[in-house]
Amino acid sequence: LERDGRIVGAITLTGIALGVFCSSYLGYWVAADQQGRGLATGAVQRVCRIARDTIGLHRIEATILPENTGSARVLGKCGFEAIGLAPRYLHINGRWRDHRIFQRVLHDEPPVV
Ligand SMILES: CC(C)(COP(=O)(O)OP(=O)(O)OC[C@H]1O[C@@H](n2cnc3c(N)ncnc32)[C@H](O)[C@@H]1OP(=O)(O)O)[C@@H](O)C(=O)NCCC(=O)NCCS
Repeated sequence: LERDGRIVGAITLTGIALGVFCSSYLGYWVAADQQGRGLATGAVQRVCRIARDTIGLHRIEATILPENTGSARVLGKCGFEAIGLAPRYLHINGRWRDHRIFQRVLHDEPPVV
């Protein structure tokens, strides 16, 4: 994400799987002084469109720390639903932390890739 020639954030789609899964993992961050302006929400919506229309993915998954209410709000605004809790999912600040799992289903057509 760029603003006035400066990198103020990033968004990633990783672990792209095709075939019967057609799924990927979403990640993002926004610089502290640029938060609250809709940058993350706009970027997630754009990436979801690219994932569906260009890559042909069926589903995107995002995992967040339970206390990350800002990130949960972004996902909610972008059509993601909470689907569960993954115990001891990621190693954050020295310990394995539980994460909430969210997904957005992008379409229900059969896989083409
Ligand atoms: C989470 C993050 C990406 C949000 O970026 P952003 O550009 O500020 O997000 P947006 O402006 O698009 O939307 C933020 C929404 O969350 C809400 N929000 C932000 N902090 C919040 C908090 N602590 N509690 C509740 N809601 C919060 C805002 O009010 C806004 O909702 P609204 O549009 O209804 O007012 C940003 O805070 C960040 O980079 N955090 C650190 C890295 C991180 O957590 N990445 C995600 C890992 S899963």
